[in-house]
Amino acid sequence: LIPKSYDYEVKEANFTRLCKNKTILTVNGEFPGPTIYARRGDTLIVNVKNRGNLGITIHWHGVKQPRYPWSDGPEFITQCPIQPGANFSQKIILSDEEGTLWWHAHSDWSRATVHGLIVIWPKIGRPYPFPKPYVEYPIVLAEWWRQDVEAVLLDFLKTGGDPNTSDALTINGQPGDLYPCSSSETTKFIVEHGKTYMLRMVNAAMNLFLFWGIGGHEVTVVGTDGAYVKPLKSNYVVISPGQTIDLLFKADQPIGQYYIAAKPYNSQPAISFDNTTTTAIIEYKGYKKLSLSPVFPHLPKVNDTNASVNFTGSLRSLASRAHPIDVPMKITRNFLFTISINTMPCPNNACLGPRGLRFAASVNNITFASPNISILDAYYGRIKGVYGDDFPNFPPLFFNFTANNLNTSLQTPLNASELKVLEYGDTVELVFQGTNLVAGIDHPMHLHGHSFYVVGWGFGNFNRSRDPLSYNLVDPPLQQTIAVPKNGWTAIRFKADNPGVWLMHCHLERHISWGMEMAFITKNGSKAGESILPPPPDMPPCT
Ligand code: C2O
Ligand code: CU
Repeated sequence: LIPKSYDYEVKEANFTRLCKNKTILTVNGEFPGPTIYARRGDTLIVNVKNRGNLGITIHWHGVKQPRYPWSDGPEFITQCPIQPGANFSQKIILSDEEGTLWWHAHSDWSRATVHGLIVIWPKIGRPYPFPKPYVEYPIVLAEWWRQDVEAVLLDFLKTGGDPNTSDALTINGQPGDLYPCSSSETTKFIVEHGKTYMLRMVNAAMNLFLFWGIGGHEVTVVGTDGAYVKPLKSNYVVISPGQTIDLLFKADQPIGQYYIAAKPYNSQPAISFDNTTTTAIIEYKGYKKLSLSPVFPHLPKVNDTNASVNFTGSLRSLASRAHPIDVPMKITRNFLFTISINTMPCPNNACLGPRGLRFAASVNNITFASPNISILDAYYGRIKGVYGDDFPNFPPLFFNFTANNLNTSLQTPLNASELKVLEYGDTVELVFQGTNLVAGIDHPMHLHGHSFYVVGWGFGNFNRSRDPLSYNLVDPPLQQTIAVPKNGWTAIRFKADNPGVWLMHCHLERHISWGMEMAFITKNGSKAGESILPPPPDMPPCT
């Protein structure tokens, strides 16, 4: 029997990592936070009690919340923060999600430590589309700062430069034995020879894509973002911030110890080495301590973009009788959104970005200006002047998006709160076009309230007459976060059948802080069961 309701007390707690004791924000004093267990189609209640010092919101990443955006969580998009001392009872309304999702804070940078897994099993009596694993283990990948994370955020917003990098990566809260003062706490998984194990993994890191693998063992990927995929065998995986990956591995190697390891993938050419690696240990039952160190996985080089796109581009949905797909074939709305890093003026040109400017980031050249009341409230209550509904379908200017040495005059974006309005039932094709402004880099784009099919991708500029010919409309993966390759494009399709206000953003925290976000409004349909449900009585007030 699994619980249908959870109490989440958001509070400060003491942790020691890397020989330093500090206070972090947690749920129920845990890092990573508690796992939520559910079955497909369940509705759960989470009573969030804010006993911390700052306002906070919690988001159920990948949960579509049909007709109920009120519980979605992004600050000033669907709600105002839950103030210290206040409570908010949130619903997690599952529909067709099955596999692994996660939850995290969605206000300032508190998600660094306020996050956890959501495990969604099949309905009672329904099998997995793969042999039942012997045991399932969670793998929560995250980052650890010696500094206070709020201080890192404030400092980086004030200086307009890049944020301080974290001091360690972690697996289930522990940096692992390659970091100082961490070896005795290294996460360890005991396995029995011959058995198959399932790992439910999320990349909860703030700013890093990760390469991940198990020494000596091949893995079989079976799911991502709460949907199954065709079994994909690989020696490594790449996982975007925000993404989840479910995989199986068989303990079929000689009795011994094997490292699970994760290290950054970074597509920027300036970065050619990285010595940040987090580890956990897989130990076979019957292992006798030897002087040998555990077997290390072969992971791609830090800037190996081919290794990244080869993995991500190999994911396919099951598209089977039991797990059919539903890719929109007739498209009613076509969009091309550029996703760019930008720069903006700063008082006295005194910022730490290039040429004394501050960094910004944009979608279709608009860097999102967050209102300080909830957009959902404004939409539902018809309050004027909070947001605009003129988000452009295309970039305001077509230029050679991915060329080298782009004119710096292209770098300054508009600053606005513009939303894109969709009719209920619209079938949307959206091409994310990366640009080489300031820095071409991969962006993990995430859409709330929907899953989307990733139908195509490529390097360079999207070509409207040529590229759609090579779309995969047969078994494209169903995802919620997709890494758009640097100086490249990715095409997604989804159906707008979830009325509400739904945020879309880059899941690199520094890019969302620079404004790489926008939101969709999906209008109510005309039939019963196609309208937003009324708000709960305990919505956090906006004053
Ligand atoms: Cu992981 Cu806006 O969310
Ligand atoms: Cu980004």
